[in-house]
Amino acid sequence: MDFKLKSVTKQIERGTISWSSPSNIALVKYWGKKDNQIPENPSISFTLDHCKTITTLSFSKKETLDDFSFDVFLEGELKESFKPKIATFFKRIEVYMPFLKDYHFKIETSNTFPHSSGIASSASGMSALALCLVSIEMELSDVTLSAVERSYYNKKASFLARLGSGSACRSIEGDLIVWGTHKDIEGSSDLFGVKYPYEVHQNFKNYQDTILLVDKGEKQVSSTVGHNLMHDHPYAERRFKQAHENLSTLIGIFKTGDVDAFIKIVESEALTLHAMMMTSMPYFILMKPNTLEIINKIWAYRNKTNSKVCFTLDAGANVHVLYPENEKDIVLEFIKTELVAYCQNGHYICDQIGFGAQQLVIEDQ
Ligand code: PMV
Repeated sequence: MDFKLKSVTKQIERGTISWSSPSNIALVKYWGKKDNQIPENPSISFTLDHCKTITTLSFSKKETLDDFSFDVFLEGELKESFKPKIATFFKRIEVYMPFLKDYHFKIETSNTFPHSSGIASSASGMSALALCLVSIEMELSDVTLSAVERSYYNKKASFLARLGSGSACRSIEGDLIVWGTHKDIEGSSDLFGVKYPYEVHQNFKNYQDTILLVDKGEKQVSSTVGHNLMHDHPYAERRFKQAHENLSTLIGIFKTGDVDAFIKIVESEALTLHAMMMTSMPYFILMKPNTLEIINKIWAYRNKTNSKVCFTLDAGANVHVLYPENEKDIVLEFIKTELVAYCQNGHYICDQIGFGAQQLVIEDQ
């Protein structure tokens, strides 16, 4: 109810809005959902900085109001294959954005990371689109932004992004975002992501994430299918409980700056995510041999050097190498000498914690 559009006070014929929105990497993973994109367990993520989608949305009033009308372009190329996902998204959010059928939309999108890198662009892409739509709503409602309104519209953008792709709701703000109701985290909600509200030790500021591109191919199993396999999964209930427990433990870890304890939770979460895939029916494996080679190298390096480097995984074969800022140079050297050999064509992306999406100024308006 809170997110239904209250009133349109302005008539607008046409316009253009542009947002840049980042990807994010979960520390406690979301895997399993109920109807309407409600997560089975809470999750928490670092917002990234360099891996972003830039979306420009042009809108113009149209004559007939019977259906949605839009075209999507990726890097300037018309993408018919993107349309069904966006049509589903529009259908889901129409009740909150009743003006959608009044306009024809041209959605122009590009990513700062290579398209076929195996990095999911759904989080950055859906959050950028949601933010563009919220900006149009703000123009139609003629709002001038106060702090209260900014917080409302950020929540609404996150709420809408969630309906496009669950993890997208964690990409609006930074640097640490919680999504899913958790008893110890005030303000947490299943409906949208919120900034982690408690103390975070200096050790976790500017954390680095180097993404090793092990396999750039299309995933054999989509995350939608994977989430659904958590229904009737033999370990699901215990897993959902574990995510709550891990998040409770992280609260203390963030406060004290205990990086060793952080590593245990983060690596266990990554392996548990993939263990859920391997123990679903049908079962599947998204890791590749080089994913395991990299994990073993990281463990060996940590044993040898006492480094605080660790890894996490998404729903794919690529490895996110996480490390504190004060180890930046030395870990990058380790990556170059020992890990790059396991990356497809030697490719990797250096990223770090970021602070959320940004509206871009359109020059010719
Ligand atoms: O947002 P989705 O439906 O693509 O799911 C993403 C799930 C993971 O990336 C595997 C974990 C997470 O919390 O981001």
